[in-house]
Amino acid sequence: MGIHFDSGAGLFTLETAHTSYHMQVDERGHLLHLYYGRRIGQGCLSTLYPPADHGFSPDYYPNRRDRGVSPDVLPQEYTGCNVGDFRLGCLVARDEHGAAGADFLYVSHTIRPGKYALNDLPAAHDEEEEAETLIVCLKDAVTGLELELLYGVFARQDVITRAARLRNGGSAPLRLEKAASLCLDLPFGQWDLIHFHGRHAMERQMQRAPLTNAIHTVSSTRGASSHHHNPFVILCDRSATEDAGLCYGVMLVYSGSHRTDIEVDQNGSTRLVSGLHDQGFCWYLQPGESFETPEALLCCAPDGLGALSRRYHRFIRHNICRGVWRFARRPVLINNWEATYFHFDTETICRIAEKAASLGVEMLVLDDGWFGKRDDDNSGLGDWYVNENKLPGGLNPLIERINALGMKFGIWIEPEMVSEDSDLYRAHPDWAFTLPGRAPAMGRDQLVLDMGRPEVVDHLTDVLSDLLRRHHIEYVKWDMNRNMSDVYSRALPPERQGEAAHRYMLGVYRLLNRLTIAFPHVLFEGCAGGGGRFDAGMLAYFPQIWCSDNTDAIERLTIQHGTSFGYPVSAVGAHVSACPNHQTGRNTPLWTRAVVAMSGTFGYELDLGRLTDEECRQVKEQIAAFKRYYDVIQNGQYYRLSDPSREPRYVAWQTVTDSEALLNLVLTRPEGNARPLHLCLRGLEEDALYCVDTMRLYGTTVTPEVHSVQAGISEGAVYSGSTLMYAGCTLPQLSGDYPSVQLHLTRVTNH
Ligand code: DGJ
Repeated sequence: MGIHFDSGAGLFTLETAHTSYHMQVDERGHLLHLYYGRRIGQGCLSTLYPPADHGFSPDYYPNRRDRGVSPDVLPQEYTGCNVGDFRLGCLVARDEHGAAGADFLYVSHTIRPGKYALNDLPAAHDEEEEAETLIVCLKDAVTGLELELLYGVFARQDVITRAARLRNGGSAPLRLEKAASLCLDLPFGQWDLIHFHGRHAMERQMQRAPLTNAIHTVSSTRGASSHHHNPFVILCDRSATEDAGLCYGVMLVYSGSHRTDIEVDQNGSTRLVSGLHDQGFCWYLQPGESFETPEALLCCAPDGLGALSRRYHRFIRHNICRGVWRFARRPVLINNWEATYFHFDTETICRIAEKAASLGVEMLVLDDGWFGKRDDDNSGLGDWYVNENKLPGGLNPLIERINALGMKFGIWIEPEMVSEDSDLYRAHPDWAFTLPGRAPAMGRDQLVLDMGRPEVVDHLTDVLSDLLRRHHIEYVKWDMNRNMSDVYSRALPPERQGEAAHRYMLGVYRLLNRLTIAFPHVLFEGCAGGGGRFDAGMLAYFPQIWCSDNTDAIERLTIQHGTSFGYPVSAVGAHVSACPNHQTGRNTPLWTRAVVAMSGTFGYELDLGRLTDEECRQVKEQIAAFKRYYDVIQNGQYYRLSDPSREPRYVAWQTVTDSEALLNLVLTRPEGNARPLHLCLRGLEEDALYCVDTMRLYGTTVTPEVHSVQAGISEGAVYSGSTLMYAGCTLPQLSGDYPSVQLHLTRVTNH
C-alpha cells in the first residue's frame, strides 16, 4: 500500500486497502490518468488507450502526421487550457496578451511520509501519522505557469485527497479565471450520479439518476456551500446498492461557492471536474505568486454505498475534525430559540434551564437576541455586547445561575454579518459588501461583512476573544443567515474584484482558525440558517453543524438520510422540538421526535415548562436512553436500512459496534391491512449471538401488550448475527401517526 513510482515507465501508483490509482507520464510529458477503482495488480494500463483518430479531436503538434493521439480523448490528470481538449477543463489562465493557454508537462515529483498542508484553507490532517504525500510538478513552458498536483494517500481509510497549487513562474502577471481542484476521468463504465440538493429547511435530499451524454452540474454561486447543492457527489455503478457495486465519492473541503461538472463525452467516457465556482471568479498571479485550490476528498468503495459512507464518516471524524471535541462526549443541550425566539429575559431563560436541569439536560444554549439592539431580526448584528434590557447586569449573572444548576452555558453568534441598524455598520459602512451606486439585495435585513479584509477579521478576533475570555462560555453556535450578493470589496482594486468571494472564505477560515486554537475547550457548532454550510470545510473547525432549521421529525428523516451519505452522526445537530411543529404544523409522538434527534448530537428546543408530567417523564427517559446508547450511536458503524425514495412507508437505520447494535424505524405512512415490516440487520458478526435487551414501541395506537402477542421479535429473544442479517426480523405491526421502534441488541457471546 502507499505511493510507488516506476521511473522506467513513468508510472505512479497510489494503493489503498481496497483501491488502486494509476497515472503515467507519457512520452510527450503529459500526465495521463490511467485508472482509479478496485485494487488491481500489475500490467501495462496504457494499452487501454491505443491511439485512435477521432474526427474533430485535435492531435498534438508532434503527432500531427500520424494522428490519433489527442488531448481530447486521452484521460488527463489535470487538464491544460485551450490546447485541444474540448471536454470539461480545469483551468483558464490568461497571460498579458489576453491569451488563455496552458499545456502542462512533467518536471519532477516528490514522495514523502505525512500529509501535505494547505496554507490558508482547511485540509485533511494526519494526526494518526498514516498518510503519504505525492506532489507532481508540471509546467507550461510559454507562460511559466507551474502546477503542483498534491495527493494525500490515506491507505487504510481508502481516501485520496487532492488539491492543486498554481505558481506564476514567468515574468508577466497571469489572471486565473478558473482553477479547479481536480479532474477525475473514468474512461469506461456507465454511472449513476447521486447528489444532495435542497432548499432552506429541506437540505440534502438525495437524488440519483443515470448520467446521460451531457454535462451535469452540481453547484452553488451563493458564497456558501449552500442548502441547495451540497459540495459532495457520488458516481456509482448503475446497479450499485447499499451493499454492493463500485462507488466514487468526491467531497470538497470548502464552504464557499463551488462547482462540480460531470460530462459524458462523445466516446462515452466520463469526466468529473470539481472545485471553486468560476462564475465571477478571477485571481491575479504576479510573478512568483501562488494560488492554492480547495482540497477534495476522493473515496472509492468497491463494496457499495453504505461502505462508501462509512469510510467518509470515519475520515471526517479522524482526519477532518480537529481538537478535543473530535471524539469527546457532547453535552445534551436545551436551546431557547423555538421556545422564546427574540422574547426572553434572564428569568425566562433561567426557568427553562431549571426545568431542563431537572430532566437531565447538560447545557443551556442562549440563541439569537442577547446582544446589541436585537429585539427582532432587523437590527443589532455586529454589536457583540450584551443587551442589558433583557439581561440586566450582563451575561455573567445568568451564566452563574446556569452553572449553579450543574449546566454548561453556550451562546449564539453570527459574526460574518452586520445589520444596517447597528453601531458596527454606522462606524464602518465600507466593511459590508455592496455594489457602488446600487442599493444592495437584502437577506433577513442584513448585509455580509467583507471577511477578505484583514481589519474585519482582526476586529472580530478581538471582539469574540473578549466575549469568550470574559465569560464562562463552553459552547458557541456560529450562524450565518443569508447568502452573498453584491459581492464587491471596497478594499480591492477593480481588477481584483473577482477575488472577493474566495478571499471572504479565506478570512472566515482565518478567524475560525484563530478562535478554535485560542479556545480549544469551547465546543463550536456550525450553522447557516440550519444546514446551509454543512461541508467538510466547516467540519475542520466545528465538529458538529446544525443540520437544518426544519425540526419536524418526519422531514428530518430524509434530511438526515441524505446527510448520512457523507457525514457522520457526530456532526449532525438535531433537537426535539414542540408540536405542532413550527415549520410544518405536524404532530408527531414525543418519542419519535427523540428517536430521530438521537441520531445526531441530541438536544431539545422547546419550552419544557409547557410539557405535561407524563411528557417530562418521557424526556427524562429519552435522555437516559441517549446516554446509555451514546457509544453505539456516536461511535458505531452506520447502516441505512431503507431508501425513502423507494419505500415511502418507513425509514430505518442502524448503528453497530463490536458489542451492541441499535435499530431505529419510523413509520411515515401507515397502511390499512398493513404488510409486515421486515428488516434485515447489517454489520453484525455472523456467528455471534445477540440478545434483544430493549424493544421500545412509541406512539402506536395499539397497546404494547397487543404488540407483544403480534410481534415476531420481542425483548429477551436471542438470535445469531447471521439470522438477524439474512433471515431478518419482522417488527410488530404499527399504526397511527408516525410511530417508531427502537431495538437495542447486546452481543452476548461469539457462538
Ligand atoms: C437560524 C438558525 O438555524 C436557528 O436555529 C436560529 O439560531 C436562528 N437562525 C436565529 O436567528
